[in-house]
Amino acid sequence: MPEFRNIHVFDLMKYRLPWAGKVSILHRVSGALMFLLIPFVLYLFDKSVTSEISFVTFKTVLAHPFIKLVVLALIWAYLHHFCAGIRFLLLDLHMGISKPASAKSAVGVLVVSLALTAVFAAKLFGLF
Ligand code: HEM
Repeated sequence: MPEFRNIHVFDLMKYRLPWAGKVSILHRVSGALMFLLIPFVLYLFDKSVTSEISFVTFKTVLAHPFIKLVVLALIWAYLHHFCAGIRFLLLDLHMGISKPASAKSAVGVLVVSLALTAVFAAKLFGLF
């Protein structure tokens, strides 16, 4: 008889999580990241619209490489969360719920969200 048990915390390193599991964890991570950074987004928004002087502050803050990395993390979080969220909503409608289809759509979410993040990163760091 096969024995089923919960994995131990030390098993986590060698546990082969399927793509769908990875996308699901990243969906939670991205949701939490966006939620935690709401004050930062509101600060930037406030600076960008209050006055011409505050807009100069906004541009100065955003010119800092570390802030750019934080904004890039936010961009990734939004894009991943959006793509994975659409996938979850389709799964809720019982679309693509077979194991191969679900694995394919999970990889699709990762590819599309990372490709879009790369485009935004190029724009953010002034490549075009
Ligand atoms: C872009 C549009 C968005 C879509 C399509 C979307 C979609 C979803 C969906 C479908 C879920 C439920 C996932 C599940 O069944 O486990 C979810 C969870 C969640 N969303 Fe969003 N969402 C969006 C934007 C946001 C934003 C802007 C935030 C934060 C500011 C956010 C934060 C969260 C959090 C914290 C959860 C709970 C995650 C968890 O329990 O694992 N979402 N989202």
